[in-house]
Amino acid sequence: MSSSRRIAILASGAGSNMAAIAQACEQAVIPASIGLIISNVPNAGVLGRAKDLRLPHCCIDHRQFENREAFEDAMLLKLRGASIDFVVLAGFMRILTDCFIREYYGSLLNIHPSLLPKYPGLNTHQRALDAGDRETGATVHYVIPELDAGPTIVQGKVPILPEDDAESLAARVQVQEHAIYPQAVRWCLEKKVELRDGKVWKDPSFMDDGETRTGANANNGTRA
Ligand code: GAR
Repeated sequence: MSSSRRIAILASGAGSNMAAIAQACEQAVIPASIGLIISNVPNAGVLGRAKDLRLPHCCIDHRQFENREAFEDAMLLKLRGASIDFVVLAGFMRILTDCFIREYYGSLLNIHPSLLPKYPGLNTHQRALDAGDRETGATVHYVIPELDAGPTIVQGKVPILPEDDAESLAARVQVQEHAIYPQAVRWCLEKKVELRDGKVWKDPSFMDDGETRTGANANNGTRA
């Protein structure tokens, strides 16, 4: 399925969110096509998945660059060359500079494995367990220069069970991620959700309470 809107996905890991978004594009749930997948990690699983799915992909290894700006310049060159107008961070484990964020401001999303503003940064699942939380989840948000602090579009929640460890929790949260991320990308591209004056604006006809109800893969997980 082709579309004039072209998404890029930046990822450093296994690529399960990339696959969920690519599937939603393929099924025209998201009105866009995947124009490019970039990983900064040469042996990342996401590159193998992109190859299997026959999606355009490349590796830009941040370690090959003198500084953050040079690394980002190389990514921006690729993104512009592929006529990308919307960028999705899906487990991309590099901090982006203001310069990169400015270029795609309002068209740049991230998913974070916690119920932000709780637990920005790393080791989110262990921190939720250590705090004795009874629920956790994932947050899709617009990217702004402050790390993991951009306006929230949607959150998916899961309960924390007595027998959970960080690994089991991560797996349960990922089920939610694969539901809410394609959904959020779809809302943005359909202009049902926009970043206006630094806040999330939602189409008034668009009934949503901030948590997922429907969507491409919204068939699992527990919602509060
Ligand atoms: C996801 O769980 C995502 O929330 C997390 O990385 C994982 C990537 O998994 N992102 C972050 O931690 C960003 N700070 P995937 O490669 O299978 O999509």
